Amino acid sequence: MSILTILFLLLISTASEAQRRSSNISLGSSLTLTSNSTWPSPSGVYAFGFFPQQVNNYAVGIFLPDKTVVWTANRDTNPTVPNDTVSLLLSPEGGLVLRRRQGQDINVISLSTTIALASMHDNGNFVLYDSDSRIIWQSFDNPTSNLLPSQRISNGQEIFSSASETDYGRGNFRLKMQTDGYLVQYPINTPDIDPYAYYVQKPDGAVNVSLNLDSDGRLYQLNGSLPLRNISNGRLPTEGYINFMRLDVGGIFRIYSLSLGDLNLTRRWSYTEDECVPKGICGINAFCILLDNKPDCQCLPGFFFAKSGNHKAGCSRNFSAQGCSKTDNRLNCQKQKLPLRFGRRSLQDSNMALIRFGKNMVPDIGGDSDSKTIIKKEQRMDILVIGIVLMSIGILALSISVIFVRQKEKKYYKIGKENGDNFVEGLSLQVFTFEHLSEATNGFKEELGRGSSGTVFKGVMQQKMVAVKRLEKEFTQGEMEFQTELKTIGKMYHRNLVRLLGYCFDGDNKLLVFEYMSNGSLADILFNQENRLSWEERIEIARDISRGILYLHHECETQIIHCDIKPQNILMDNKWCAKISDFGLAKLLKQDQTNTYTEIRGTKGYVAPEWYQKQAITVKADVYSFGVMLLEIICCRKCVDWSMSEEEAILEEWVYDCYVTGKIGNLVGDEMVEERKMERMVKIGIWCVQYDPSLRPTMKKVLLMLEGTVEIPIPPCPSSFLSSI
Ligand SMILES: *[C@@H]1O[C@H](CO)[C@@H](O)[C@H](O)[C@H]1NC(C)=O
Ligand SMILES: *[C@@H]1O[C@H](CO)[C@@H](O)[C@H](O)[C@H]1NC(C)=O
Ligand SMILES: *[C@@H]1O[C@H](CO)[C@@H](O)[C@H](O)[C@H]1NC(C)=O
Ligand SMILES: *[C@@H]1O[C@H](CO)[C@@H](O)[C@H](O)[C@H]1NC(C)=O
Ligand SMILES: *[C@@H]1O[C@H](CO)[C@@H](O)[C@H](O)[C@H]1NC(C)=O
Repeated sequence: MSILTILFLLLISTASEAQRRSSNISLGSSLTLTSNSTWPSPSGVYAFGFFPQQVNNYAVGIFLPDKTVVWTANRDTNPTVPNDTVSLLLSPEGGLVLRRRQGQDINVISLSTTIALASMHDNGNFVLYDSDSRIIWQSFDNPTSNLLPSQRISNGQEIFSSASETDYGRGNFRLKMQTDGYLVQYPINTPDIDPYAYYVQKPDGAVNVSLNLDSDGRLYQLNGSLPLRNISNGRLPTEGYINFMRLDVGGIFRIYSLSLGDLNLTRRWSYTEDECVPKGICGINAFCILLDNKPDCQCLPGFFFAKSGNHKAGCSRNFSAQGCSKTDNRLNCQKQKLPLRFGRRSLQDSNMALIRFGKNMVPDIGGDSDSKTIIKKEQRMDILVIGIVLMSIGILALSISVIFVRQKEKKYYKIGKENGDNFVEGLSLQVFTFEHLSEATNGFKEELGRGSSGTVFKGVMQQKMVAVKRLEKEFTQGEMEFQTELKTIGKMYHRNLVRLLGYCFDGDNKLLVFEYMSNGSLADILFNQENRLSWEERIEIARDISRGILYLHHECETQIIHCDIKPQNILMDNKWCAKISDFGLAKLLKQDQTNTYTEIRGTKGYVAPEWYQKQAITVKADVYSFGVMLLEIICCRKCVDWSMSEEEAILEEWVYDCYVTGKIGNLVGDEMVEERKMERMVKIGIWCVQYDPSLRPTMKKVLLMLEGTVEIPIPPCPSSFLSSI
């Protein structure tokens, strides 16, 4: 039935009429498995019949026009519909069965009485009647994962999530309307007791409580037939929409709206956005953390995923604690109760879990890290702290890391040919010839600096100074790609970014022309002990830099991860305003088409630990580098300095030690800095250099903290949570 017909039918039928109307299915009617035949409701919105499940499989149930399944028959049998099934039959003998080529009929709905008539109603209810037109069975009384408007979960009933998005079998979570009036969510196969509950609505003295759904998406409870409370607001549009509730695969119940016009399914409400809330989501010996607001399962230290490829199937270890004795020093054994269940990292409370495990069970760090910092940490790691002591963590709890998804634009366009002499600052990117730039830089004579991506020369164009960067051969991209990327970079315009003025692409010669920064790099002035910047000046620089990074991460059209934030890449203009240079170059350098970087970019000391672990690189990698640099700005020293004592050599560790022992004054030597201000900056720095990217604040939060407008919670030790190392 076409959408137009559906809409037409919707128009001519008022809502109350729709409730009453039904399509009668008489004895002897059948649906064949191969054809797409169904028993639709009169409006055509709902249909009863076969629908595909997993690969090459079918199930029987009720579904919406977009094939959203709202009720499933026999969800615990596997396969629900055997291979040799020929048809779904309302048999002349009064049974609703699957007729097979060889095997016996299978009851779709098991009943003790015979059916005289079946009806698919316009409200989504499939009803079976006996010969006296009495209802003997209806789908509304037997909800599976969904609740439709005017349907209810009555006192004592429960619904179950589906096994997966394509498998409508019983899944891992349930929502139960208990006889004692409590509405509770539990994992499956658990007793109905508090330790297993993860969502609880108390009855508040009511007894015969049910959970109901209104057509406008309002989920509410009744005490008998009296209103008890609203669980969701409702007020969703009803004209042309079907609003329904579903207990999702991930264990959270939500309200959805299906627009009958364009068959768009929209999520409208859920009681929590934290998908780690459902207990047991990660299986045993695992714990759930939020990455990008999506649940991610990780194994406890010393454990491995039980099923590779399925991180939600829990973790196991190939090592038995029984084999070791107390005298065996190599293994650090202790009594423990396995399996550990319902692990979840919560940033809201201050509980701490200590997990002790054998020293030689330290999981491989992954990658061939040569970083002294990380190896040092690894050796110390005989006690891991999971779960973090956080006090007023509120502000960080929801910090979201945005996975960098490279959107490769395949739009090709022609950039106007060289017009070297019409160099106009502030307009779109200029294209220069190599000769022109060679002339402007006096034959690449005066070198301003040298970095991983190329060498920078001083130049003059139309009486204005410019910086010309000659890129290394490594930039192997073709001209089109190069121009596309540059066009993106050229659009970046912010007070705290060094402006790209133009470029040259001439065979092997690839050059970029930037505005000239007369006061050199932050590295030159920060590590110069004679002419130390004042505390206030340094903090203003830190704020400027964070504004620039915030722009790259969240405020410009195409998100950019810098990948190489360090003092050498921060330049100072003639007014001592700090500007970030070299942004966007990581994109130029990236050679493969995937979303992950294959090689470590950036500079040792500043690169985030996830680079070494071959994890997805997100904007949080920049936050880490910024954090290292912030500590350098606070202390006016380099992040790694082996000329210092071992305790002080690695800045990040020294800062944390000084912080926990209350000696942050040591960090600035003789300089007089108000302790309260200094402590704030140190705390921000420690938050940014957390090993776990999800613990690091977003740049937005960093800036708010730097500006002093939000509270800064007490940071944990950066390496204390080595979940994935
Ligand atoms: C369906 O059957 C019922 C009961 O026999 C009857 O009252 C109703 O009119 C029938 N509806 C249609 C559309 O035939
Ligand atoms: C529930 O309904 C009963 C009457 O059926 C009433 O006595 C009781 O106070 C109600 N409880 C609440 C909490 O509304
Ligand atoms: C509970 O309330 C429903 C109406 O909401 C009613 O149909 C049912 O009979 C009641 N059950 C008991 C045991 O009172
Ligand atoms: C529940 O919502 C309905 C509709 O919005 C409203 O009329 C009613 O007063 C609400 N009930 C409670 C207990 O808040
Ligand atoms: C346990 O499994 C891990 C990963 O599969 C493997 O690297 C390690 O060698 C195994 N250890 C033992 C004792 O079998």
